Amino acid sequence: MDNIQKYVEANKDRFLNELIELLKIPSVSADSAFKNDVLKTADAVKISLEKAGCDTVEICETDGYPIVYGEKLIDSNLPTVLVYGHYDVQPADPIELWDSPPYEPVIKKTELHPEGAIFARGACDDKGQMYMHVKALEFMTSTNQLPCNVKFMIEGEEEVGSVNLSTFVKNNHDKLKNDVILISDTGMIAKDVPSITTGLRGLSYVEVEVTGPNRDLHSGLYGGAVANPINVLTKMIASLHDENNHITIPGFYDKVEELSQEERAEMAKAPFSLVDYQKALDIDSVYGEKGYTTNERNSIRPTLDVNGIWGGYIGEGAKTVIASKAYAKISMRLVPHQDWEEITELFKSHFESIAPDGVKVKVKPHHGGQGYVTPIDSIGYQAASKAYEESFGKKPIPQRSGGSIPIVALFEQELKSKTILMGFGLDSDAIHSPNEHYGIWNYFKGIETIPLFYKYFTELSK
Ligand code: BES
Ligand code: MN
Ligand code: MN
Repeated sequence: MDNIQKYVEANKDRFLNELIELLKIPSVSADSAFKNDVLKTADAVKISLEKAGCDTVEICETDGYPIVYGEKLIDSNLPTVLVYGHYDVQPADPIELWDSPPYEPVIKKTELHPEGAIFARGACDDKGQMYMHVKALEFMTSTNQLPCNVKFMIEGEEEVGSVNLSTFVKNNHDKLKNDVILISDTGMIAKDVPSITTGLRGLSYVEVEVTGPNRDLHSGLYGGAVANPINVLTKMIASLHDENNHITIPGFYDKVEELSQEERAEMAKAPFSLVDYQKALDIDSVYGEKGYTTNERNSIRPTLDVNGIWGGYIGEGAKTVIASKAYAKISMRLVPHQDWEEITELFKSHFESIAPDGVKVKVKPHHGGQGYVTPIDSIGYQAASKAYEESFGKKPIPQRSGGSIPIVALFEQELKSKTILMGFGLDSDAIHSPNEHYGIWNYFKGIETIPLFYKYFTELSK
């Protein structure tokens, strides 16, 4: 790819400003108050794809938010890359913890980003990373260097489980036919340690409700004599891990793949500093399942975490009360071969079975998805590896991530193609947190690396 660096250099300011405009629209898929903004973002993505050189771009309606689909097909004898990304973002709450408003992007320097980083909700996850692909396409079409066919599928419901995208994929096999799927919605180890994500965890997300007495009670008159749902719920939750931080749900680990010592040794070669890790989080020790390293705990091992818990009185001062109900939202991150629906069932029957007399328990499954692993000997991986080697001057390291993009497993099942996860974010980018940001170095580096993937993928496919 000739002159990609020059092209980026010459268009830097415009590339930043265009992304900033996209980040100003609060496309929160979880909150219906933002409905018009989500729809506006889909339109903005459509226009950007048209300008970048797609021949056709459509807004595909679904039962939820639309999918933006675009394509540029140059020759049916050449391979086709399908780019996936999402234009929706997580809610910005708690807003008061942001140093600058989440939808008024600003560029600030940080220790890790001396060149500056864009601070805004969605800067990294996923508008910034998705837009790198739009700009990479612009470069390839405007310099007549697009080496193969390309399709774009950018959805607006990733952060709420991609339910309507699943239906769209199932109903559009022909339209979405491709030779490889390319996604930038993950991270890399460090700016000087490029890596390619080879695994994602699956997810099962449930909400639980514990009901005791039929109304809130005076904690003096009734305390000690009836089950307190909050006491009961916290005790039930605590029992879900044993003293080794192993999950106690019967059958939970049955399908978990144990990695060989060789594979674990290979993983352990990835650079990692426990001291820096603890320092970045302001913790004096890590915590987790006995017998596994931190990097194993957050990638190849399944987990169970309470994401939120509520009930009773949390207002100012004190109120002496035994609440009638207590609730929690619980996520389980799963590894390949664990089936999310099966795990949800195991959770449900176990949780119901451990409820003591005097309370009623309800388990409400939310969404979920399967995990994913991809081999490193595929043409797609090899092409990505060569692309990074050229743009970073270093061979990238394969790395399994702890996060989830549930639709990836469905892509493989329905479209029979491998997904290559070329993510350029850093763990410190604070995705889903206040002060999310994306390094402008990472943004430009991504734009430089993506066209090289197209080039090598086309070459290796011959
Ligand atoms: N882009 C993230 C997932 C991610 C981030 C994977 C970093 C690997 C590294 C995605 O937008 C996300 O947040 N996924 C959700 C799951 C979804 C079903 C809400 C997640 O992982 O919590
Ligand atoms: Mn994402
Ligand atoms: Mn996300």
